[in-house]
Amino acid sequence: MGFQDFAGKNILITGGVGFIGSNLARTLADLGARVTVVDSLIPEYGGNLFNLKGYESRIRINIADIRDEFSMAHLVQGQDYLFNLAGQTSHLDSMKNPFVDLDINCRSQLFILEACKKHNPSVKVIYASTRQIYGKPDFLPVHEGHLLHPTDVNGINKMAGEWYHILYNNVYGIRTCALRLTNTFGPRMRVKDARQTFLGIWIRNLLQGKTVEVWGDGLQIRDFNYVDDVVEAMLMAALSEKSNGRIFNLGSPEHVSLIDLAALVIRVHGKGAYQVIPFPEDRKPIDIGDYFADYSKIRNALHWNPRLSLEEGLSRTLQYYYGFIDHYL
Ligand SMILES: NC(=O)c1ccc[n+]([C@@H]2O[C@H](COP(=O)([O-])OP(=O)(O)OC[C@H]3O[C@@H](n4cnc5c(N)ncnc54)[C@H](O)[C@@H]3O)[C@@H](O)[C@H]2O)c1
Repeated sequence: MGFQDFAGKNILITGGVGFIGSNLARTLADLGARVTVVDSLIPEYGGNLFNLKGYESRIRINIADIRDEFSMAHLVQGQDYLFNLAGQTSHLDSMKNPFVDLDINCRSQLFILEACKKHNPSVKVIYASTRQIYGKPDFLPVHEGHLLHPTDVNGINKMAGEWYHILYNNVYGIRTCALRLTNTFGPRMRVKDARQTFLGIWIRNLLQGKTVEVWGDGLQIRDFNYVDDVVEAMLMAALSEKSNGRIFNLGSPEHVSLIDLAALVIRVHGKGAYQVIPFPEDRKPIDIGDYFADYSKIRNALHWNPRLSLEEGLSRTLQYYYGFIDHYL
């Protein structure tokens, strides 16, 4: 099976006006799929209608909240694939408002899965999980067998959300797969603030001629995936029966310290400066330190490999914001 098999298929993407969801929706529309996105467009979150600019006639946009079980019961019907990406993504917000995070990232996931069970048990579901659920790594690289001990409320709720998906696969036969995403970046990421990722605010500051702030000692190691590679992993997981009931890390062969990343993004941009400053008090206790993934499981099972280098990905991301930053402030 190839990606051309998505042509004519009915697809629902929760969180489809957000960063990764909109990139996925555009790709699927280009492949000839009939795409519906559902998104609440809560202003503090990552949804931005400009993300679907140019696709308004080819993608159905349904402004609804996944916390509304009746909307979800209706929306899952008749879908061949469900990409479940809607989420509250801020770790800090999850500590300030734990019950909102619980409702969106945990409770609503059960609404969605129950809706599939009752109305569309033959749908294939891809869930966007996160490396955050590992917490502060006990060893590197982190493989899927690593103990889960999240450092924040968001991580705990995402962990539950992930396991509901696996449970519904194992008990009810609803085909699901969870991808544990690492830091994802690219066009349409949130750059307004650091809610989605620090790289977003770095890009905004660079474009506005401000100094980039690197928190901590700047030696923390991370891995990054360009959004097109993540979209490709989601499409591959959707098409393969080998992914049913399975959990896969995504990751990259490039591991980089935050200082080196700051230097790289400044070099790609051609100007700018960074400064290393101590962690804000509320961030320090939930920081995960060094992280990079072992993604050999998805490489072996589905033959997924990230294709874009960090440098090329940063260059494409900057190019996008040179043109459209005004729509993201
Ligand atoms: N970006 C990353 O680096 C990263 C890393 C790990 C995991 N993930 C996961 O991938 C998914 C997508 O992340 P993203 O980076 O595109 O974030 P995003 O914030 O851009 O997208 C999430 C979308 O969900 C929508 N949403 C939030 N609550 C909703 C609700 N109650 N009902 C309907 N829609 C709602 C938001 O409006 C937003 O458009 C999330 O589940 C996130 O946890 C992302």
